[in-house]
Amino acid sequence: MVKVLFVCLGNICRSPMAEYVLKDMVRKRGLSDKFIIASAATSSEETGNGVHLGTLKKLKEIGIDASSKRAVQLRREDYGRYDYIIGMEQSNLRSMDRIFKGDIQHKIIRLLDLTPRPRDIADPWYTGDFDKTYEDIYEGCTFLLEHICKKEGIFNL
Ligand code: 4NP
Repeated sequence: MVKVLFVCLGNICRSPMAEYVLKDMVRKRGLSDKFIIASAATSSEETGNGVHLGTLKKLKEIGIDASSKRAVQLRREDYGRYDYIIGMEQSNLRSMDRIFKGDIQHKIIRLLDLTPRPRDIADPWYTGDFDKTYEDIYEGCTFLLEHICKKEGIFNL
C-alpha cells in the first residue's frame, strides 16, 4: 500500500480537492487497491467542518462526491503513517516542519514542485477561483501519480 496525505491550511478547499482528484485518477487506472489517500489541515480552524462549497461544486462537475469528508488536523504521528506528504504551498511545508520536527525521511513535497513550473497552489479561500485551483491540482496530481508509480514500481496504465 502506498499512503499519500495531502495537506493545506484548513483542509476544506485545496487538500480535499487533491485527495478526491488523486483517488479518481487512481480508480480510473485500476490502482485503488494499491493506495490509501487522505488529507489534513495544519490549523485547527476548520476541524470537523465539511468541504467548502466551491470545492464540492467543482468536484461534482467532474462526477466526484466529496460531501462526506470532514476536516481533520494534522498530527505528529501522521509522519510515520504516510509515505508521501504533499503540501499545497510553501507555508504548509513550514508548518509541517514545525509539527513533524523536520523531514528526516524526505516524505514532504510541495505538489507543484513535481511539475515543469514549480509554484504554490493559490488558496481559493482568498482568491475565490476554484477553477484555477482545480487546474493546478489536476496538473500536480498527474505528475505526482507518475512520480509515485515510478518510485514504487507500479505499472501505471
Ligand atoms: P484551504 O483553505 O487551506 O485550502 O482549506 C482555507 C480554509 C480555511 C481557512 C484558510 C484557508 N481559514 O482561515 O479558516
